[in-house]
Order: sequence, then structure tokens, then C-alpha cells
Amino acid sequence: MDKFIINGPCKIKGTIKLSGSKNASLPILAATILFDEPVEIKNLPNVKDISTMLDLIKSFGFIVKKNKTNNSVIIKKKKIKTFASYSLVKTMRAGILVLGPLLSKYKKAITSLPGGCLIGARPVNFHLNALAKLGMKHKIRKGYIYANAKKGLKGSRIKFPQISVGATENAILAATLAEGTTILKNCAIEPEIKLDLTNFLNKAGAKIKWTGKRSVEIKGVKKLKSVSYSIMSDRIECGTFCVVAAISKGELKINGLNPRIIRTEIKLLKKIGAKIKTYGETIFIKGPKKIKNIKFLETKEYDGFPTDLQAQFMALLCKAKGRSVIHEKIFENRFTHIGELKRLGAKISIIKNKAIITGNSDLEGAELMSSDLRASVALVIAAIASKGKSIINRIYHLDRGYESIENKLKKVGVKIKRLS
Ligand code: EPZ
Repeated sequence: MDKFIINGPCKIKGTIKLSGSKNASLPILAATILFDEPVEIKNLPNVKDISTMLDLIKSFGFIVKKNKTNNSVIIKKKKIKTFASYSLVKTMRAGILVLGPLLSKYKKAITSLPGGCLIGARPVNFHLNALAKLGMKHKIRKGYIYANAKKGLKGSRIKFPQISVGATENAILAATLAEGTTILKNCAIEPEIKLDLTNFLNKAGAKIKWTGKRSVEIKGVKKLKSVSYSIMSDRIECGTFCVVAAISKGELKINGLNPRIIRTEIKLLKKIGAKIKTYGETIFIKGPKKIKNIKFLETKEYDGFPTDLQAQFMALLCKAKGRSVIHEKIFENRFTHIGELKRLGAKISIIKNKAIITGNSDLEGAELMSSDLRASVALVIAAIASKGKSIINRIYHLDRGYESIENKLKKVGVKIKRLS
């Protein structure tokens, strides 16, 4: 298994080009199941979760032609079967997103339950309840969902009991070809949904209209037309690199993302003392000499502080002057990075889903273990600010969601190398 060696502390200066958003690519790739015509998707990040989703789509009988030069694919329908195997879905939770489109287009699907992961049980009840309201009949046996909609899906009014990114995406995908109109309330409004997924489907002839902050109306259509679409940049990757600059008194120019999309994160980075200037789709960030603490920070659904940046900010706050508290409110077990940060000398205690970070830690390089995608990148960030050598094991977790992160980091001054 690959590992990273990082020698810190590192002087950070340079430019970062963001990759396409993993969490926008996954629902948009699942949406290609809705098409009869060829679809081109550009600016896909070259990460494991995307290749897994492409394998899943191929397993349904689609032809996937990759163009490595510009990270694009052309997906063409061939002979269809509607079975999503456990071996593919178990490694990537987003596999559940094929259920809605398979039902909407082919009226049946057998897909594996995605299974939990380290950060939580991650049930799919909101997905199944929403699809049932659209006419899905299903039973669960031996870890598989056997679903069908003999008369096709019919539009309905659905109010999600809790905000869920995946359930919102699945319902939008299912409603796209359903008969009649679907109204979804209490939706997740991440930009990957409200901007990218919506724009992609509407460009192909879908009729999706956001009628309120968390309400969307989808008028079912018969067919979608061939389309070419370029994925938005990855806002979590952008936030991650901003933290790299903030923790290391570094200076980064980050290209490719409309800064409005991460205005909450930018406000927080200014609060800890970073200097940030933005113009067009460029963000300039200069890390502070002294990092200020954040008395209380809680993760929220968009447009609140994202849970996918919680671990990264925790690494940063280990170096802040004074105590900070982070309350993880989205997932039940998203503190696996704490044990590893403490191996570097961080002083953090946990009370239920709150982490109390003492701050002012002199971090010293150590051997570390990655656990999930964002926890792993938090270890990279802390290692960059630690004195001496750190070894980060099991970086396959990182490869799931960060495209060639070591090359991007090396280019801006991080002394990092990958050992296979
Ligand atoms: C998406 O996961 C993202 N993944 C996650 O990013 C992100 O952390 C999460 O949204 C929250 O923003 C992708 O987009 C591929 P949810 P998802 O449904 O859709 C509970 C990363 O690092 N829930 O919004 O699974 C759930 O357990 C990943 O890129 C139910 O109880 O998140 C969680 O506690 C990690 N029943 C909460 O809701 C359901 O049916 C939010 O989950 C669905 C969810």
C-alpha cells in the first residue's frame, strides 16, 4: 500500500489549478444512465471514485470512451442490464445514485446497499422513501435492493425529513423522466446539486426549476438529448489548499472556482487571520504569522461550514493561539483524524460530537495512518506544519478524492514523496 513521506515544516508559495469536483461528477455520471444518445462529460477529476463510477456504468452495458488529455469521457448506451454489483458499490457509497435513474429509465434495478463507512452508518432510508413516493416497489435481500416501477415513475410531492445530499440527487434523477411533475422540499442545496447537476440536466432538455431556497420542481420529460458538459471545480479541494496556505504562513493563488461558492470558508479563514483577495475565479490567500483560534465552529449543510472541511480546519486550529471547539453535526463518527493528529503532538479532547482543540501545539513529525478521505488530507496538512519527517500510511484513501495531490503540493514547496 502506498504511503507519503513529508518533511516539514514547508515553505508554501505558488499556484494551484483545481480539478473537477468529485461530488459533482458522481451524480452527473449516474445521470448519464437516463440518456439514449451519447453524452460527453469534461473536466472529470482523475480519482478512484470516478473510475469506480465509470466501471459501474460500464457494468450496465454502456460504452465509456476516455480521453485522458482533457479528463473527459464519452458515454454511449449499448445493451442494458440493470444490476449494480456489491463489489463496485461497496467501495463507493455514491453507487446508490444509480437507483433513481435506472428506475426512471428502465423501470427496474438491482443494486447493492452501499454499506456504511468509517464516518458513519450512512443509511439510505431517505433515498428509498423518496423513490417509493415516486412509485418504486422494492425489497431488500442479502444486501441488495430489488426495485421496480412496472408502470414507470409518477411525479409526486416529497418533503425530505432531513436534508440529504444523496437523497436529493437520487430524487432529482428519478423525477427527470417520471410522468408528471415532482416537487421536492427541504432539499440539499450544495452547488454540485443546485448548479452543476441542475445545469447539466437542463442543458439536455430536462425541466428542473428551483422555486425556493430548498424547493425544486421537476417536470418529467420523455427523453434527454445528447449533450457535452464540463464539471465545476472542486470546492472542497479549494478549501483544503486554502488551509495548507493558512497553516504554513504560505501564499497560494488558486484558480478555477467562483469564490462566492466558498464564502463561508473564506469568512472563517479571514477570522483566523489569513489575508484573502479574490477576483474572477481566482483566490489569493496568505497565511497569518499568528493563527487565531475559533471559539466555536459547527458543521452544517450548505451554505454552512462543510463537514468535508472539518478535519482540515481541525489540523489548522491545532496551531492556533488559544482553544477552539468544533462540533461535527452531520456524521456520527467523523473524528478518526484526532488520534493521528495527537501522534504529532496535537492536544485535542472529545466530548460526544465536540472536539476541544487546545491550540499552540508544536507539532513533530510521526508515523500516521489514514482512515477516510478528508481525515487523510488533514494528516497531510498537519505534517506540512510539523517539524521533521512524517510517514502517512494507506494513502489510497486520499487517491479516492484528490487528483495527484502530491504533484500539486510539490509544485508549491511541500517536501513530499510517494512510496509505493
Ligand atoms: C455527500 O454524502 C457527500 N458525498 C459527502 O462527501 C458529504 O460529506 C455529505 O454529502 C454531506 O455534505 C458525495 O457527494 C459523494 P447526506 P451523502 O445524505 O449524500 C444521514 C466526501 O468526503 N442520512 O447529506 O451520503 C447520513 O447518515 C464525502 O467527499 C440518513 O440518515 O450525505 C448523514 O448523517 C464524505 N439517511 C446525513 O444524513 C439517508 O437516506 C447527511 O448525509 C441519507 C443520509
